[in-house]
Amino acid sequence: MKRRAPIRFRPQERILSREGGRERERERVSPMRISTALPVAILIIATIVQSAWTASATHSFHCKKLKTRASRPHSVTVTEFGAVGDGVTLNTLAFQNAIFYLQSFANKGGAQLFVPAGRWLTGSFSLISHLTLSLDKDAVIIGSTDSFEWPIIDPLPSYGRGRELPGGRHQSLIHGYNLTDVVITGENGTIDGQGSVWWDWFNNRTLDYTRPHLIELMYSSEVIISNLTFKNSPFWAIHPVYCSQVLVQNVTILAPLDSPNTDGIDPDSSNNVCIEDCYIRTGDDLISIKSGWDEYGISFARPSANITIHRITGSTKSGAGIALGSEMSGGISDIKADGLRLSNSLHGIRIKTSPGRGGYIRNVYLSDIVMTDVEIAIRITGEYGDHPDEWYDAAALPLINRITIRDVVGSDIGVAGLLEGIQGDSFSDICLSNVLLNVTLDRSPWKCSDIEGYSNLVRPESCEPLRGEETFHSAACYVDDGLVPQGFVRGQPVDLNVNVASPVETEK
Ligand SMILES: *[C@@H]1O[C@H](CO)[C@@H](O)[C@H](O)[C@H]1NC(C)=O
Ligand SMILES: *[C@@H]1O[C@H](CO)[C@@H](O)[C@H](O)[C@H]1NC(C)=O
Ligand SMILES: *[C@@H]1O[C@H](CO)[C@@H](O)[C@H](O)[C@H]1NC(C)=O
Ligand SMILES: *[C@@H]1O[C@H](CO)[C@@H](O)[C@H](O)[C@H]1NC(C)=O
Ligand SMILES: *[C@@H]1O[C@H](CO)[C@@H](O)[C@H](O)[C@H]1NC(C)=O
Ligand SMILES: *[C@@H]1O[C@H](CO)[C@@H](O)[C@H](O)[C@H]1NC(C)=O
Ligand SMILES: *[C@@H]1O[C@H](CO)[C@@H](O)[C@H](O)[C@H]1NC(C)=O
Repeated sequence: MKRRAPIRFRPQERILSREGGRERERERVSPMRISTALPVAILIIATIVQSAWTASATHSFHCKKLKTRASRPHSVTVTEFGAVGDGVTLNTLAFQNAIFYLQSFANKGGAQLFVPAGRWLTGSFSLISHLTLSLDKDAVIIGSTDSFEWPIIDPLPSYGRGRELPGGRHQSLIHGYNLTDVVITGENGTIDGQGSVWWDWFNNRTLDYTRPHLIELMYSSEVIISNLTFKNSPFWAIHPVYCSQVLVQNVTILAPLDSPNTDGIDPDSSNNVCIEDCYIRTGDDLISIKSGWDEYGISFARPSANITIHRITGSTKSGAGIALGSEMSGGISDIKADGLRLSNSLHGIRIKTSPGRGGYIRNVYLSDIVMTDVEIAIRITGEYGDHPDEWYDAAALPLINRITIRDVVGSDIGVAGLLEGIQGDSFSDICLSNVLLNVTLDRSPWKCSDIEGYSNLVRPESCEPLRGEETFHSAACYVDDGLVPQGFVRGQPVDLNVNVASPVETEK
């Protein structure tokens, strides 16, 4: 790999001429902070890349379906139940009593619990079905720093134990079990987990149980989480597990870049999930899709599927913009993400798995990604390790195939791709198209092992195992319904010499 191909943008211009860009333009809600930390030059590129989409009727199907929001005929304010918003008084009981009272409205269209301006200290509390928890713009729900206010609950069946420690785990600050029709929203009110005490306990190994999430909903459907800021989660911020019909929209998630495992949003063994227009700046993965851990995840067998992600902006110090796994033993499929804007981060896209996980990751379509100052743009790790116990079945190999990554622009990229499958279990149909990375480090930009697939318009030129050029055609590569990506011409081989060589050579 002698040639460090210069980045140029002719390829996008070509796609730009495709029809349907307008439809998509209309759909795009102006994201909150798309410009944060991204240089002007990149923004211009981003605009070009975004327009490269062909509109698709099916692409955001379940996002639209999820947006009808119930209006509640009844509403109470948490102060009616004795809550005091002074930041000092513990309000756990007030939240619990208010929600208990609102149960009687469940079959009358549900009810709203309003949290007015103030600082509302509380321990963990549980929601009910047909409830809207609504925060004023100056309302801050604050998690207690007393761990006894976060009760211990059973481990998730698909994990077999707490994620960090054997046994149970602390219940999330806002918890839900077996619910339907729940809305958690506000005019950008804040839910602050005061996680720093938990991070200290974690770092100095004085915890007895796995740390809690800010919000966890289990076995729930028709969930909307929107228009809020989540701060300083002790662990992952938003964790829908065994859920369906979940919309997370227009939320900001913040935690110090060095805080441990403060993932943003982790859909876990859940389907029909839509995440859009979020700004996430945390210590770990912005979004991580999961589905259970080794033998527990395999036997629980609940996949994550039909997950759509649009317009995520942010940074992570030790994680990725979008991660799949490492817990993926129930399977992960039909994942579509576009509009990722990532800066100052360790990884852009990351797939993590291990022998012992079993399961699969397939039918993944990631596109329209702009990265600035990212150490490793694309990383696939087949030997992640990290097992719940010694009883995992090392012969349970994960099946990883049909992963398409296209329309990626990166500047200040350390390594373009570190793509490592499992020996004897190659990951296949890994397809890269129109991936233009400005690599800064003076080492080989791609490193691939036990990986097979295709590439088209990839600069710097991809590693050899992804250059299945003669047989290159769309049947192997996963494409979004209704979208025929540049270079992946349905059903016919592509002449890569024409596509690849000309735009790059003319730059010189
Ligand atoms: C879950 O909710 C359904 C319907 O509301 C109810 O019939 C069932 O008993 C609940 N299960 C549990 C474990 O709470
Ligand atoms: C996002 O939330 C802010 C305040 O929380 C609101 O002003 C804005 O309209 C919301 N945007 C969308 C697309 O909902
Ligand atoms: C919401 O609040 C957060 C934290 O204060 C802020 O960073 C963000 O810009 C706000 N979002 C909107 C849409 O106003
Ligand atoms: C661990 O951190 C907590 C929270 O900061 C602190 O109270 C405790 O003294 C620390 N324990 C040790 C052994 O360092
Ligand atoms: C978020 O806030 C915007 C602006 O106030 C509002 O139009 C939208 O309906 C809210 N979203 C949800 C899901 O509540
Ligand atoms: C995913 O969405 C498709 C199209 O709506 C649907 O046919 C399929 O059943 C969904 N799969 C899951 C697991 O929800
Ligand atoms: C790529 O890197 C070179 C040298 O570091 C720089 O001059 C050029 O502007 C960069 N291009 C982009 C699109 O960032």
